[in-house]
Amino acid sequence: MRERRRAGRAGGAGGIVVRRATPEDLDQVVALRLALLRGHAGNAVYGRLRPDAPARARALFRDQLASAQEVTWLAVRAADDVAVGVLRCMEGRGSPLLDPPRYGYVASVYVVPEARRLGIMRRLLDQAVAWSRARGLDELRLHAASDNAAGIAAWEGVGFAVAEHLMVRPLDPEDAEPPAAAPVR
Ligand SMILES: CC(C)(COP(=O)(O)OP(=O)(O)OC[C@H]1O[C@@H](n2cnc3c(N)ncnc32)[C@H](O)[C@@H]1OP(=O)(O)O)[C@@H](O)C(=O)NCCC(=O)NCCS
Repeated sequence: MRERRRAGRAGGAGGIVVRRATPEDLDQVVALRLALLRGHAGNAVYGRLRPDAPARARALFRDQLASAQEVTWLAVRAADDVAVGVLRCMEGRGSPLLDPPRYGYVASVYVVPEARRLGIMRRLLDQAVAWSRARGLDELRLHAASDNAAGIAAWEGVGFAVAEHLMVRPLDPEDAEPPAAAPVR
């Protein structure tokens, strides 16, 4: 079934290579990661994209691509090195009171629409698994927007399960004034 579906898409994922991103890939990484953010326009957290986000992204992602503390992989077309997917992984630190103290944190996962359901995210994630295992980690975590049903289904499809919810409440300007002291009833 899976093989039939993959074979049915134009060219399948056969011509795709997964490789580490380098600082020379900055333009492609910026394009894919901004597309990811723009796909979350209705979300309470990710929908609040700053007008200067593209300029900020270049500076931020340049540093991240040069960092030894994290790694970005790209899925690229072997024929022309054009990136169709991205995934980052870094080491996360848990509470000192809980196990595990460190885990692999997966972020910035995006596959262009025309290359989806070909196993590209799965191949990118394989790299994060191997990278995390090599650092002695035994757990992966990630955040998924609660209104991203397809994304959540994808993560569930590769073994993730929801462990907590991030709750957001905007504050009104009046919230700046502490309430008048009132007797506790
Ligand atoms: C989520 C996303 C990264 C998945 O990438 P992909 O390359 O299409 O995923 P894969 O083909 O490797 O799928 C792996 C498995 O995930 C599950 N899956 C993937 N997309 C799915 C979907 N839309 N619905 C249900 N399950 C899905 C399946 O179990 C799939 O295995 P199968 O094809 O053998 O059944 C891609 O849809 C995307 O970029 N979406 C927009 C950005 C986004 O949501 N990023 C994640 C933010 S948390």
